[in-house]
Amino acid sequence: MKLPELQVLHFDATGFQLQPADLAAAAGLQQAWVIATCQRVVVVASGREARAQIVARLPLAARAQGFAGAEAYAFLLRFACGLESRLAGETEIFGQIKESWRAFSAVPGLLSRQLDSWVQLLFKDTKEVRAGQLSSLGSASYGSQVRRLLGAATGGPTLLVGAGQLAQAVAPWLETRELLLWNRSKDRTHELARLVQERSPNRVCRVLEASAEAELEAWSRAGDVVLCVPADAARDAGRIAAWQARQPHGGRIVHLGLGESCDAGWAGVAGLTSLTALFDMLRAQSDLRSVQLARARRACVEKAVLRSLGPSATQAHGWEDLAAFATISP
Ligand SMILES: NC(=O)c1ccc[n+]([C@@H]2O[C@H](COP(=O)([O-])OP(=O)(O)OC[C@H]3O[C@@H](n4cnc5c(N)ncnc54)[C@H](OP(=O)(O)O)[C@@H]3O)[C@@H](O)[C@H]2O)c1
Repeated sequence: MKLPELQVLHFDATGFQLQPADLAAAAGLQQAWVIATCQRVVVVASGREARAQIVARLPLAARAQGFAGAEAYAFLLRFACGLESRLAGETEIFGQIKESWRAFSAVPGLLSRQLDSWVQLLFKDTKEVRAGQLSSLGSASYGSQVRRLLGAATGGPTLLVGAGQLAQAVAPWLETRELLLWNRSKDRTHELARLVQERSPNRVCRVLEASAEAELEAWSRAGDVVLCVPADAARDAGRIAAWQARQPHGGRIVHLGLGESCDAGWAGVAGLTSLTALFDMLRAQSDLRSVQLARARRACVEKAVLRSLGPSATQAHGWEDLAAFATISP
């Protein structure tokens, strides 16, 4: 597949709430690699015809942001480098994309063969941009932000609610001697406990029963609580009540499922940091970050230009090469 055939459709979660049926429609006929994260859905296809067929099956796609060729590559590179994420420069997204590609390419098909060499270049370029432009950015992961907020736990065990992708990324960063793990599906909690123990064999790690009672009992004795599950009005009411029933204790709650549409029940809860508040805190951080992020975005454009010159090109011939792609926005 030549680079001009690369097609990308981008559904930003603030504009589109895609349902499982939409994702199935986008991925139908094995004509698209669909990467779904909590902030966006990215659909990758080969050729205008495939893109037209996706739009025919999923009319919403006509309103999605669309890229083709080198612009599509530059978008995928910014996406993989975390430059499209609200936590700019975050590292977890690269793992999510690699995992999505692993699952997609495990099922043999024409598209995975067509995309394979481009995806390998994308992964290589992502590592280079991260190493060259983003390595001194400071740790930009949800886990590092949570650690910064909580510091070393002093008032009892830390309760981690959830066992999905985000909980797995955050757990190793929690500085506590005792970790209580709760999730509604216990199998996933055991898997998370195994991962935590592998990395920190000396940490006390307790898997709690999957019942609501066991979770609330842990809320009443944990020093800090980190939630890596979606906000849920009914369950959250019980959590807030358990937290507020305690003596004032200076513990903190970091709720990473709590976005802009924050349930009113959380208003005024002592020690709470929501996902939105965490983004606000980051925005207020130094200008140095934005200079480095701008450089990294520029590096993504330059890599896309190189890739459009051929998979093995190692440097652009001159400014005329870059000028030819003046439409690629960093
Ligand atoms: N991944 C990220 O980079 C990221 C970044 C910022 C915020 N977030 C937010 O963090 C939350 C978790 O994301 P994730 O990426 O870890 O997703 P995920 O891998 O799909 O895991 C979802 C987690 O939430 C639990 N869950 C889902 N619906 C639930 C419900 N109705 N009641 C109780 N538990 C429920 C799941 O439990 P089961 O295991 O039982 O299914 C699992 O523990 C989401 O709200 C997401 O928007 C994620």
